[in-house]
Amino acid sequence: MMHLINKFEHLKIQLEAIKLATDNFADENCIGRGGFGKVYKGELLHSKGKIVVALKRLDPKFGQGNPEFWKEIIMLSVYKHENIVSLLGFCDESNEKILVYEYASRRSLDSYLNDDDLTWIRRLHICIGAARGLAYLHNPGGTQQRVLHRDIKSSNILLDENWNAKISDLGLSKFGPANQQYTFLVSNVVGTLGYIDPLYIETGLLTKESDVYSFGVVLFEVLCGRLCISNENGIHQSLTALVRRYYPQNKISEMIYSNIKDGMDPRSLDMFTTIAYQCLKGDVEERPLMTDVVIKLQSALEHQFGLILSNSTYKEGNKTKEKSGPSKGRKWYRRTKEKSNEMQSNFATNCVDHSHPVESGERRTLRLLLKSLKKYER
Ligand SMILES: Nc1ncnc2c1ncn2[C@@H]1O[C@H](COP(=O)(O)OP(=O)(O)OP(=O)(O)O)[C@@H](O)[C@H]1O
Ligand SMILES: [Mg+2]
Repeated sequence: MMHLINKFEHLKIQLEAIKLATDNFADENCIGRGGFGKVYKGELLHSKGKIVVALKRLDPKFGQGNPEFWKEIIMLSVYKHENIVSLLGFCDESNEKILVYEYASRRSLDSYLNDDDLTWIRRLHICIGAARGLAYLHNPGGTQQRVLHRDIKSSNILLDENWNAKISDLGLSKFGPANQQYTFLVSNVVGTLGYIDPLYIETGLLTKESDVYSFGVVLFEVLCGRLCISNENGIHQSLTALVRRYYPQNKISEMIYSNIKDGMDPRSLDMFTTIAYQCLKGDVEERPLMTDVVIKLQSALEHQFGLILSNSTYKEGNKTKEKSGPSKGRKWYRRTKEKSNEMQSNFATNCVDHSHPVESGERRTLRLLLKSLKKYER
């Protein structure tokens, strides 16, 4: 253990600094609680100046401990991606074990599922980001080993100011050999009720497809605007059970969160539900790779953008917006220009890693927009 501690010496943060940042773990700075313990928000003096951070303070009575603490530090030091939460440091002092992360100012996706501000486009953007993060863990490239997350759920998908998704909580994850089509690991079943792959519960065999299953559950949560397990009058309602009943009968539209239903492009919806349902397949071989999920979700986003740019009027959430007619007139040009400017500035502020191998759907859409603008300008 000593050599581990030495290796991560540069990430060590003094307990004194953490107490200062959280006002000695004051209740008003506590923003949540999970399997690791309480989560605090704080302002920490760091080499980069004063930064807002999230701090997780280990409370062993919830069942997690030293292994999860060190696993999280090791994983987040090695696996870095714009859609994986960043670890800034840790504290291992005076019987305290504390993890310090970048602060995701919008917290976790679970609290936005039935939020009216979360339009269909924004939902797609979040799902694409999370899918990219998980695709990276499953196929990190180079000599790095594949990581099976084992606890994919909407509360482990954090959101930054610009609604970029960040996968969190790798403390329960497991390594699997990379570059192999099937990774089987036998392990004690861990995860969260409602999200765990039934096949994994049954057999104890862990595959990357178990993460894919959990991701499918999250996709349906996002579509239906509710958590996968809800409690109505003391009775547990399972979202996946409903999906399994409605999807084969072509009735999934009855389950869509009402506030996003109106402005949806049917092809976008179809693309989304098809891939989401595929993730839930009982046979692991029928489940898609996360890279496929990314591609399909990007297409769903492009269809949605396509609708926005081609309709004379369209509705996004509750807002009705004006659009030009089918011929590309000045109004069309102005709106498209505005849209492309908005996207470009979003990219400038959000896309740190321009060299990422998976081309973002938005980036492709922007390219198409720019192409048609150029045509018009000629
Ligand atoms: N880096 C972060 N930035 C902002 N908020 C965070 C951060 N990490 C966690 N949180 C908040 O704290 C809450 C609790 O997180 P935590 O991961 O401890 O529990 P959980 O995700 O609900 O369950 P589990 O322990 O099974 O992962 C989250 O739902 C989220 O709102
Ligand atoms: Mg969590």
